[in-house]
Amino acid sequence: MTLPLRKPSAAQPAAASDPRTYFSAATLAKFDAQVAQYPDPKAALIPILHYAQEEKGWISRETCEVIATYLKMPAIRVWEVMTFYPMFHQEPVGRHVAWVCRNISCDLRGADEIVATFYKKCGIEPGETTADGKLTLKLAECLGGCAAAPMMDVDGIYHENLTPESVERLLDGLK
Ligand code: FES
Repeated sequence: MTLPLRKPSAAQPAAASDPRTYFSAATLAKFDAQVAQYPDPKAALIPILHYAQEEKGWISRETCEVIATYLKMPAIRVWEVMTFYPMFHQEPVGRHVAWVCRNISCDLRGADEIVATFYKKCGIEPGETTADGKLTLKLAECLGGCAAAPMMDVDGIYHENLTPESVERLLDGLK
């Protein structure tokens, strides 16, 4: 199945259908290394999506189609897997991405205040990106740091026992 292509955005130019021109040589080398580990290339889909997101910043429909071409599988299967996992961004995100945990332990210990601090400091609510493209705020389910609730993940680094003040300091330090 071929997914309908959306109008290319400024953030991500139109896809070439050839993976060898769409992705960088470095990213393709990572794809190839993953595929080499499995008897069925399709088993490498999730790590390939991670590498694709590292390069493109997010996963567009065009990117799914090119990955499908690379793995010789239907584009809809790539789309289904990509949209199942929240760590894959379906739209452009900021240079930094903050995931604030909203699950029970963090919620009981003030996750709402943490989210409110983002609005107070940066004017963004969950799902939004600052106008300057610096920061995207997302809500996460339990990130496994319950003992240090409330907590969040910023660019892959956990920040725990948060307070509005510590979040303000962290946001001030983001470049
Ligand atoms: S509930 Fe927030 S890390 Fe588990």
